[in-house]
Amino acid sequence: MHGFYASASYHGGPMPSTKTDRAWTQEELKGNPHEEANKADRVRRMFGAIAHRYDLNNRVHSAWQDQAWRRRVVAMAKITPQDRVLDMACGTGDLTLLLAKAGPEAILGMDFTEEMLAHARVKAKRWGQRHQGRIPDFQQGDAMAIDLPDQSMDVVTIAFGIRNVTDPSIAIAEFARILAPGGRVLILEFSEPTNRLIRACNAFYTRHVMPWTASWLAGDRSGAYRYLPRSISTFAEPRELGVMMQAAGLTHIQQQRMTGGMCTISLATKP
Ligand SMILES: C[S@@+](CC[C@H](N)C(=O)[O-])C[C@H]1O[C@@H](n2cnc3c(N)ncnc32)[C@H](O)[C@@H]1O
Repeated sequence: MHGFYASASYHGGPMPSTKTDRAWTQEELKGNPHEEANKADRVRRMFGAIAHRYDLNNRVHSAWQDQAWRRRVVAMAKITPQDRVLDMACGTGDLTLLLAKAGPEAILGMDFTEEMLAHARVKAKRWGQRHQGRIPDFQQGDAMAIDLPDQSMDVVTIAFGIRNVTDPSIAIAEFARILAPGGRVLILEFSEPTNRLIRACNAFYTRHVMPWTASWLAGDRSGAYRYLPRSISTFAEPRELGVMMQAAGLTHIQQQRMTGGMCTISLATKP
């Protein structure tokens, strides 16, 4: 299974450019961004524009909860030393590095935005100087057409990525295809809080505070942080994600809500 790592190593060089045009207009975000034409292209441009401040914005705007949510994914994945792990839509590699710490046999981060991967590779290099164990490899790739053989992975994770994919059901079917029997898929995604008070506070914060402060921190003009709340409120509920997992032939579906339902982890197994 290590063949594909050969093409995944980082050769250094400058970070790709972070300058970009507007990916989403105010008008487009009044509708359903998941139904907009060229969603994949807009998503890629948007993450290219915010990559340089992505981690800082995550920490600040989740009140430092985001890493705790990712750590919960790692705990639920029950990684063994024999596991081959793919972190799809890995972005700047935060979850990939936490998974690497759990000591799997092999760990690959994949994403279609080169600017995000460039940050992940730099972080992994630094991480490797401080930790023992396998340093993750990073490779550019698309969740809807994964360039990996059938049954070549034991764990597939995707954190805050499935919402950004053009057709989540195709991506989930791809996850099922590349998993070996007994393998696990874990999807971490924002959800609407179940608690009414948390839901009201969260709605105010994500619609009226965060888009301004996060755009300012990132110097962003792509519309990424106005897309974020809209993409959450118009996305599939956890129950619908469970149905997609079932349709892909996955079983033993479990869902765990966190922080008053602000995020949900969906776990399923390949029979
Ligand atoms: C919100 S970020 C999440 C990054 C990371 N997983 C984390 O926990 O912070 C979403 C990522 O999904 C990636 N993405 C969106 N659609 C994708 C696709 N079809 N294939 C691969 N990556 C995709 C974006 O490039 C972006 O890096």
